[in-house]
Amino acid sequence: MFCSGEEGDIVAGRLDGTIQEPSPSTHPSSNPVSATDAKRATSPWHRFLVVSYETVMSAVFALPRYPFCNSVKGRFLRCMGAKIGKRVVFYPGVWITLPPGSTLEIGDDVDLALGVMITAAGGVRIGERTLIGFRTHIHSANHVIPDDGSPIFYSGVEKEMVTIGKDVWIAANCTVLPGVTIGEGAVVAAGSVVTKDVEAYTVVGGVPAKLLRRREPSRSAYLPVRAAGSGSRG
Ligand SMILES: CC(C)(COP(=O)(O)OP(=O)(O)OC[C@H]1O[C@@H](n2cnc3c(N)ncnc32)[C@H](O)[C@@H]1OP(=O)(O)O)[C@@H](O)C(=O)NCCC(=O)NCCS
Repeated sequence: MFCSGEEGDIVAGRLDGTIQEPSPSTHPSSNPVSATDAKRATSPWHRFLVVSYETVMSAVFALPRYPFCNSVKGRFLRCMGAKIGKRVVFYPGVWITLPPGSTLEIGDDVDLALGVMITAAGGVRIGERTLIGFRTHIHSANHVIPDDGSPIFYSGVEKEMVTIGKDVWIAANCTVLPGVTIGEGAVVAAGSVVTKDVEAYTVVGGVPAKLLRRREPSRSAYLPVRAAGSGSRG
């Protein structure tokens, strides 16, 4: 199941046909769903558009990571309003949700491994030469959790930008939460959950991710990675 605000800016319910009209008496939270939002959420046309985006996106992103296929994937995202740099590698199985009006910026030579998921409702920026490891998830929106125990289903979504600097390595199976900034040259160890900002040139790990050690920033100039024969996982 994918969460409502992540998929198409729907503010209540899911996309599986179980969306319900909100009743003001059952969701007295501070961030209730307006009648207009609920109408849009339940609109078959809106649901059709969101599911169509997912269908085309998952078909395009199932392609292998030949340079031509990567350029097709980059063009697809640009058509949806994203800024995608040069030589970005998209492994098969990358999943990117990009609701209308949201920000997605991916720098040159970024490498997104098999099974990476990016939900860009709140905005996601990734700096150049950053490597995102297998099955890592980057989330930029939370469901609001009402203090009074009223249903999360009706409580709306909070969106927060995720910013990942250049030359970062996020290893396999990590989760980056909404609002986090990861500084240039940082490393996130495998299996970590990043709940807070990560300082530049540090190695962090664990759940929640904590400082493991610091790195020295490089003073040398970079060659374009493909010319230097490095960068991607092979
Ligand atoms: C982070 C990593 C690169 C190792 O970095 P390192 O600086 O050499 O770390 P070390 O192995 O010396 O371990 C240093 C400390 O960090 C801890 N640590 C290492 N990896 C960790 C992880 N994934 N989560 C939590 N803690 C970790 C170690 O337990 C150790 O703690 P201690 O000092 O209390 O014993 C490695 O652990 C890792 O996560 N590799 C990712 C592999 C991967 O995902 N590959 C796919 C590529 S997309």
